[in-house]
Amino acid sequence: ARAQIGVTGLAVMGRNLARNFARHGYTVAVHNRSYAKTQSLIEENGDDGDFVPSESMADFVASLERPRKVVIMVKAGGPTDAVIEELLPLLEEGDIVVDAGNAHFPDTIRRENALRERGLHFVGSGVSGGEEGALNGPSIMPGGTAKSYESLGPILEDISAKVDGVPCCTYIGPDGAGHFVKMVHNGIEYADMQLIAEAYDLLKQGLGASAAEIGKIFEEWNTGDLESFLIEITADVLQHVDAETGSAFVDIVLDQAEQKGTGRWTVQNGLDLGVPITGIAEATFARALSGGVPQRTAGAAALPANAGSFDVTDRDAFIEDVRQALYSSKVVAYSQGFDQIAAASAEFGWDVDRGAMARIWRGGCIIRARFLNRITEAYERDAHLPLLLADEYFTDAVGAGLAAWRRVVSQAALNGVPTPAFSSSLAYYDGVRAERLPAALIQAQRDFFGAHTYKRVDREGTFHTEWSADRSESAV
Ligand code: 6PG
Repeated sequence: ARAQIGVTGLAVMGRNLARNFARHGYTVAVHNRSYAKTQSLIEENGDDGDFVPSESMADFVASLERPRKVVIMVKAGGPTDAVIEELLPLLEEGDIVVDAGNAHFPDTIRRENALRERGLHFVGSGVSGGEEGALNGPSIMPGGTAKSYESLGPILEDISAKVDGVPCCTYIGPDGAGHFVKMVHNGIEYADMQLIAEAYDLLKQGLGASAAEIGKIFEEWNTGDLESFLIEITADVLQHVDAETGSAFVDIVLDQAEQKGTGRWTVQNGLDLGVPITGIAEATFARALSGGVPQRTAGAAALPANAGSFDVTDRDAFIEDVRQALYSSKVVAYSQGFDQIAAASAEFGWDVDRGAMARIWRGGCIIRARFLNRITEAYERDAHLPLLLADEYFTDAVGAGLAAWRRVVSQAALNGVPTPAFSSSLAYYDGVRAERLPAALIQAQRDFFGAHTYKRVDREGTFHTEWSADRSESAV
């Protein structure tokens, strides 16, 4: 046994992770259900370093130094359970099994429990950065036991992305914590992408600009506060021309967004925990709306717009307004996502360090962005910040763009451009800053029709009013 780490599941992500380990000087055991993929890795990328290929799972496990560290990179759900089942009889006490796929965190909690009973460490780890990240440095979010991180952590930190020399990998917390934060990362990714798409739509409709022109605007934005991977690739995508038709590439792509489920899970969990992650929810529903072909066909045929049309006289001012609205909405989406992490951390006893989270998302991952430094700084100022938006940097930044944000959302509404994420983020902002909300009326209505009781602003206690009788109030 001489391999220091093993990877089973050699589709593109697993293969690239294995290559990344090898390039960092580790001897890497590699295995795949069909041996052809293992062979092709050795043939095509054998030069990356020291690989130990195995055809059978038994040989693969036997080729690993103890405590064994096995990284599973297969499809989430059934396929992951199947690999774990196959591995279990071959492993020994103290061995570490890492699930690096996009597992749903309740599955991770279940698997961690089951493996712990057998004396094994199960580490559900978020890995972000796509194919490129897996090969050249992803952002890594490992959960599981703190003990497992002692031997596994240094290896993962080694292959992770680095920002200012700091690894984009840190121990997140027990059992499902790693996969949970990866799930929220993806939820934020959905919100970020939707916000960018809305900005694009506004620029397109407001300026009548071509995709390439808008691409240039994004390129410019990428030199300021908005600098991020997603803005950068958006600039690139928008300037790409379809080879076959000569049209802007984005114009030939069918406008129905798909998803594999992490955004949906994030929203479901937001509902479970009662955390208003409205930006992520709107982004997820916007994908669903785009894919609802029968509804869209019926809507397009029947629904009048009765909307105005843009009359942009100052092009630069309009672009700057959209930029500000995008930045403010983005801050809201992240603030909501970080609130969700705080709520889950409290619920499941994970003790997730949100500042460290933001730090490891600065590089490697899909939502990597300059502005994550600001989030880390905010949690350095106050580790228990109840609302990221209320940190001084963000109150200033969002405050400065507030008028622009309001102009953009109202222009969009007046002119019939759907901006669910921009609009709901602004509504959230106004809701969370309101001193008094109409929730008082909801409580009164609930008491009226269902005797659901209410509390008063002027004294302690729970009350009910006899609505159908003399309307007297009693304490309950
Ligand atoms: C990442 C990505 C990655 C993947 C998503 C896409 O962090 O590297 O988030 O996990 O691209 O699964 O999700 P959808 O297919 O749901 O858009």
